[in-house]
Amino acid sequence: MTKKAWALSAIGALVLAGTPALADPVDATLILNEDIEITTRTTAPDHLSGALDEVMSGWLFRGVETRAMQADDFDNPGMIFVEKAEDLWNAADGAEGKSCADCHGDSSEMSGVRPVYPKYVEAAGEVRSLEMQINDCRETRMGAEPWKYTGSDMIDMTALLASVSRGLPVNVAIDGPAQSTWEKGKEMYYTRYGQLELSCANCHEDSYGLMIRADHLSQGQINGFPVYRLKNTKLNAAHSRFKGCVRDTRAETFAPGSPEFVALELYVASRGNGLSVEGPAVRN
Ligand code: HEC
Ligand code: HEC
Repeated sequence: MTKKAWALSAIGALVLAGTPALADPVDATLILNEDIEITTRTTAPDHLSGALDEVMSGWLFRGVETRAMQADDFDNPGMIFVEKAEDLWNAADGAEGKSCADCHGDSSEMSGVRPVYPKYVEAAGEVRSLEMQINDCRETRMGAEPWKYTGSDMIDMTALLASVSRGLPVNVAIDGPAQSTWEKGKEMYYTRYGQLELSCANCHEDSYGLMIRADHLSQGQINGFPVYRLKNTKLNAAHSRFKGCVRDTRAETFAPGSPEFVALELYVASRGNGLSVEGPAVRN
């Protein structure tokens, strides 16, 4: 059996529906607030040669109404959380009595930060996610308690930092000191997990376009995170999505914020290098 046929039959067994149907992603353009043009499909980065020719945002796989919600900030339910984070940004907290704004200025000054994370941070000697950087500022610079990795304050703040970078291309570094972490993430992406023995690639590289449990399977990109999901009516972090997808293969999963998921995040982000930052995106 070819790799693709094998994955199809495994997914067919999963959905218990014989041969799953294929549907093309839509041919549509996303312009936010009639202003910012979003790159939702582009030539795949070089490191994907042989695997994918084109990379596509999950937005192209969603229905008409879900896509429309994301195009206008007034209709995007995720933007309420961006506003909440704006208050957090300006609020003093911790023993030092400082706010994020005291050191970083206006939140718009953080434009350009989201697209390059996760990244290798020289001073820390490790690859860090945005959440890790935020908590480092809280603990070491503010004398404040760290936020829970996927707690509401943290996720709101990541939505704010994504929102000020919307339209900029994802551009994570995969070489130099980040390379070994990236390779670890890549290995995870192609590892078959769980009783179903399915890897991320089996679904999101070999089989995107399939209708699976009435859901249109995308390339599993993370340029839109955190995403507001209509299903659970809240913002969802990329690591929570990873956790859900691993669990669907009936495997034991890693914890959000674990080194494994940070490595996987770096690798998945790099598969979307060139797509625009969209967060907070809207998904079903
Ligand atoms: C006492 C000053 C101070 C406070 C308060 C502070 N930071 Fe920082 N932050 C820094 C410094 C210094 C750096 C490292 C140098 C840099 O990259 O700007 C940094 C780095 C960062 C980075 C990485 C930026 C990059 O370009 O890689 C993020 C993200 C960040 N801070 C978010 C926050 C958030 C969110 C808050 C509030 C919860 C906060 N910081 C509070 C001083 C501060
Ligand atoms: C059994 C098939 C399957 C496997 C295996 C799987 N996923 Fe998913 N994944 C889905 C489905 C179905 C969705 C929801 C539809 C969509 O957005 O593609 C989804 C959604 C996602 C999304 C959200 C994309 C967006 O734009 O909102 C990400 C990110 C993701 N998966 C990453 C992963 C990663 C990383 C792995 C491996 C650890 C993985 N998935 C394994 C089926 C799978």
